[in-house]
Amino acid sequence: MTTASTTYNEPYNLARKFATLDLISKGRAGWNVVASWSALEAQNFGLETTLDYETRYARSAEFVEVVKGLWDSWDDGALLFDKAAGRYFDDAKMHVLNHKGQFFKVRGPLNVAGMPQGHPVIVQAGASEQGRELGAATADVIYAISGSREDARAYYADVKERMAKYGRAPDDLKILPALCPVVGRTRGEAQARYDALQALIDPLSGLGSLYSTFGDLSGHPLDGPLPDGTLGRQELRSVSALLVERLKREKPTIRELYLRAGLTGSARIGTPADIADAMQEWFEAEACDGFNITPATLPGGAEDFVEMVVPELRRRGLFRAEYEGRTLRQNLGLRPVTSRYSRERRAAE
Ligand SMILES: Cc1cc2nc3c(=O)[nH]c(=O)nc-3n(C[C@H](O)[C@H](O)[C@H](O)COP(=O)(O)O)c2cc1C
Repeated sequence: MTTASTTYNEPYNLARKFATLDLISKGRAGWNVVASWSALEAQNFGLETTLDYETRYARSAEFVEVVKGLWDSWDDGALLFDKAAGRYFDDAKMHVLNHKGQFFKVRGPLNVAGMPQGHPVIVQAGASEQGRELGAATADVIYAISGSREDARAYYADVKERMAKYGRAPDDLKILPALCPVVGRTRGEAQARYDALQALIDPLSGLGSLYSTFGDLSGHPLDGPLPDGTLGRQELRSVSALLVERLKREKPTIRELYLRAGLTGSARIGTPADIADAMQEWFEAEACDGFNITPATLPGGAEDFVEMVVPELRRRGLFRAEYEGRTLRQNLGLRPVTSRYSRERRAAE
């Protein structure tokens, strides 16, 4: 899974890069589609600040459509390499995209064919109104961030409901909320690990994680309440909505809020059984299709999860013992991709 921006790239280049990665990796390529919210990032690409929300997401939606169109350039079996007949490809199986849109004009075809996955896996991670629509229309996987199980259930149902209008079935998308597992042989050991991690959070980076939502809070006592009416640019709308919701619900101090703002905001602390319980509860409550495991430390946090929690999940029949397939798409339980041209042909039959 590689992140690439739809604001600071051209569709043809990214289509080619991910198609090539899929060939080289024998079908394990995935693209985390981001619309790039950061003003600082924009200043690396000749802009003073990032594009506005609507433009960013509209460009992102068209960008992904063009890339998928380019990935559909060659039907299976299009390349003939028939020296005797002097035919390199079957032009009935080659498609010129000729895309003309608001942001892009792209002729095609792509000069890469035969990707094992058909389409590398498309990941997306937005939860704003625009983010949800883009995910429902285009994503195979969504990295979700949710406060409570009920929030996660509501988000899950909302996004899956939107898919029908794009002719997509709910199973064509896997919603994976972030989960930061802090495991211990006992609850005490796990809590001690968590407290040690929290103690490492420097107030400056803590305030930094609140800046986009609440602006500069550095002039206020950390162990005091957030002053009323302080708002930042909120470039990550869904992340800000989560923090504002937490502020209303829990009335934390500035320090308490930033200690739950970053990675450890999705922490699950406890024994392997405790963490498996939390995962099983969300999964069975249709709050998710699985999890995006985001260990607090590497490699230690990842090793603890694999060595302590995965065996427990397997014991409960909740996690596989063998890979189901060869490609990333197959191992995510996603259906094979049908190209837009074969869908058109089928619709015309
Ligand atoms: C797990 C995860 C990984 C993300 N990775 C990136 C990234 O690498 N680059 C980036 O610009 N944004 C990244 N984002 C931010 C999202 O792309 C998106 O901007 C953010 O979730 C806000 O979405 P919204 O605008 O729909 O509220 C990530 C978000 C999540 C949840």
